[in-house]
Amino acid sequence: MEAFGPIDPAKIAGQDFYTTAGDPVEPEFPGPAELMDRLAALSPAGLDTVFLSNSGAEAVENAMKICYDHTGGSCGITFEGAFHGRTLGTLSVNRSKAVYRRGFPEISGVHDAPFCRDGGCTAGTCDCGFFAGDTSVLRRMLHPDRGHVAPEEVAFVILEPIQGEGGYHVPSNAFLREVADLCARHDVPVIADEIQSGTGRTGDFWASDGLPIEPDVICAAKGARLGATIASADVFPDETSRLSSTWGAGGLIDALQGAVTIDVIRERDLMENAAVRGEQFRAEIENAALPNLVDARGRGLMQAVEFDTERRRDDVQEAALQRGLLTLGCGHKTLRLLPPLDVREREINMGVDLLAEAAEAAA
Ligand SMILES: Cc1ncc(COP(=O)(O)O)c(C=O)c1O
Repeated sequence: MEAFGPIDPAKIAGQDFYTTAGDPVEPEFPGPAELMDRLAALSPAGLDTVFLSNSGAEAVENAMKICYDHTGGSCGITFEGAFHGRTLGTLSVNRSKAVYRRGFPEISGVHDAPFCRDGGCTAGTCDCGFFAGDTSVLRRMLHPDRGHVAPEEVAFVILEPIQGEGGYHVPSNAFLREVADLCARHDVPVIADEIQSGTGRTGDFWASDGLPIEPDVICAAKGARLGATIASADVFPDETSRLSSTWGAGGLIDALQGAVTIDVIRERDLMENAAVRGEQFRAEIENAALPNLVDARGRGLMQAVEFDTERRRDDVQEAALQRGLLTLGCGHKTLRLLPPLDVREREINMGVDLLAEAAEAAA
């Protein structure tokens, strides 16, 4: 099969869409294999293997599956406020709004811990419920003698490096270090769900690149244009058919879009742009002194503004839309602001002016 490069003839015989654009060795345009190469090259050392799928939820499903398979564990740990998708498996690790889970059966054995909502937390000052006394909820949960979860049964800890749907919460380094330390101590794989925070959005390719946590598995979608589960080869199952899909190499056009998106991000320094424009946005929000603003937070071009009530947030969103500014709710009182990665200085300027007008109108 070597002679066929990235193409496996058996896959084609099964009508699986493991295709490439023309010559498998020198394709006319980048396809699935080239997208996988790009994703692996931009991931932390050792995360060299990629499985493509149709959506973010499938990327998370497959991340959980490979962790169950690799560790032999039967349970998982997620965090309050988490959102990981809408398939039956992924909704089981959701801990944001009830609407995602209500009435649906779930996979068993998912435990949850508080997520840090304050980037400035330390173990001593934490108000988020994660650190308590001289320890953390997670450390207590996994304590080999006194904990209620046996560490050797934990197949994964899944987290969003910056929580999206749950309210755009940027966790503290103290929180991330504690999670990383416990996972390393008990040999529990960390799944970083980078579906919202990844592909350059925060100014790093993965938000976790700039944070004190080293994922064993990364999930991507959105900017990658299809779902991608990225891990080291030894975390993926050896056994044939344990992990597969008709679309397990991604659609040709989706993969082309994903590969070209990544090329443009790199060639045009769009990660740098995300970092600079994000700082501009925060500075301008501060100057604008929006009425009823409770908090502004985020990293790069993953920014959010929180208002005093849900009603106010909804009114600001409506007033912003009437003025031509598109925003999206998250958490309960927060609006997310996700400008394109190539946004310019003047556009951030205009966006903040429109948001300020909308906040005035809703005051
Ligand atoms: C952090 C996170 N994980 C998973 C998903 C699910 O992705 P998809 O909608 O592509 O299934 C989303 C979607 O918004 C997300 O934000």
